[in-house]
Formats: sequence, structure tokens, C-alpha cells
Amino acid sequence: MGGTTRWNSRAYDSSFGYVSAHGAPLVELLDPGPGERIVDLGCGTGVLTAEIAARDARVLGIDGAPSMIEAAMSHYPGIDFVVADGYDFTVAEPYDAVFSNAALHWMARDPDRVISRVHAALRPGGRFVAEMGGAGNCAALIAAMHTAWREYGLPEPELPWYFPTPAEYAARLEAAGFTVRLLEYFDRPTPLDECPGGAADWVRMFAGTLLEGVAAEAVDPLLLRLNELAAPALRRESGWMADYVRLRFAAVRR
Ligand code: BEZ
Repeated sequence: MGGTTRWNSRAYDSSFGYVSAHGAPLVELLDPGPGERIVDLGCGTGVLTAEIAARDARVLGIDGAPSMIEAAMSHYPGIDFVVADGYDFTVAEPYDAVFSNAALHWMARDPDRVISRVHAALRPGGRFVAEMGGAGNCAALIAAMHTAWREYGLPEPELPWYFPTPAEYAARLEAAGFTVRLLEYFDRPTPLDECPGGAADWVRMFAGTLLEGVAAEAVDPLLLRLNELAAPALRRESGWMADYVRLRFAAVRR
């Protein structure tokens, strides 16, 4: 993945296993065939990479975070994994498909460059199948962050994500030489089952870099206030929900 976020692969795996659990339908959409060569871009700890490999595809997992690749290699020693950046990765021979789940929104600095790397990695007719946060993703979480940060006199948080509209992302894909075959944009409220600390836990996990500029003694009160602000929209009797919005697509390299 891109950016400077530091990942704790153990927490990502146990508390946030839903990131991978929700990826199963995307593997169905990819429909990997035996012997197909597939890149899993932003593979994290490799759970979906292993699912793809289980379909007898030859898969390469790529992630920018060394801790993720380390975990993936130890869990799945029979699969190839490499630390590489979504903006710069290259492959020796063209692949049949590039797959990506919940990773492209982290490559916010230059989405066109990522798409062009994917294009270069594919053979003509190869497919790009992915799911990412779409416009409006985490809107309530982000609104609560902005308010809490403002109340504590902090500068507006610079969020490390890119959540495009379907039209915007489709235009980028088409301009880069893909034909978009399927594009879905939908709400997917996601239970934060393993987040007893609610929005505060989510921010610590996914937006920890934004807390680095906050005085140590202000972090807990800031996150407590964040929870108060986010609770009306995101706290249910059953627990906390994240207001996720997904952009899912399948495109073919022309
Ligand atoms: C997402 O999957 O939509 C997401 C996860 C963490 C941070 C931001 C977005």
C-alpha cells in the first residue's frame, strides 16, 4: 500500500479480519482460473491471496508494508509475496489479472500512476478487479474527526485516503486504456465487532499518523470526544458500525 501509515499486522489480522472477510465476493468476481497469473495488489496479510491461490492460480501478493508481507510469508510460505509500492511496482512478464481489495484508497497521492502500473502489469485482455472506498466513505467518522480536531484547536486533519465517485474512477480507468465492464457503488455498513472502543479504536488503527502531532495528554480526551460525536450516527445497540461505502469494479485492459 502507499502512504506512510504504519501497520500492525497482528491487530489488522485479529481485530480487523472483516477487511478480508468482506473480500470473498470480490474473489468470486475475479473468478480465478487454474494456472492464471494474478497479482494481489495491497495484499495485507495475504488472506485473500491464499484464497486466490486455492483456486490453483499462480498469485503474487504485493504490499508496501514490510510488516504485512512478513506476516503473509509466515502464514502462507508456499505463495510468493513481495514488498512493493503501488506507484512503482513492475513485473517481469504480463499477468492475466490484477486484484485489489480495500487497498487502492490508501494510494491517494497519484491514483493515475497506480492505474498505469496496473495497466503495464497486464496482458491485453487482462482484467483489473478491485474494491475500494468510494465517495462518501466514512463520512460520519470523518465529520466527527473534523469536529473533534477543531474543538481541540488542532489543524484540520489531512486524511490519507482517496474515495472517488464512480464517474471519476471510471474516467481514470478508461483514459488509462481500460474498458470498464462492471462498476458498483453501494453502502456497506460494517460492524466494528472487535472495536469496543468504537470510533476511537478505528482512528488509532487506521489513522494513527494523525495522532502523532497531538500532545500525548490530549489524545485520550480527543478520542473520547470523537466517540461522543460519532455515537449518534454509528453506535447501535449491537455495537459500533463503520459507515463504509464501496466502489467495486471489473475492467479489462484494451
Ligand atoms: C475502508 O476500507 O474503507 C477504509 C479502511 C480504513 C480506513 C479508511 C477506509
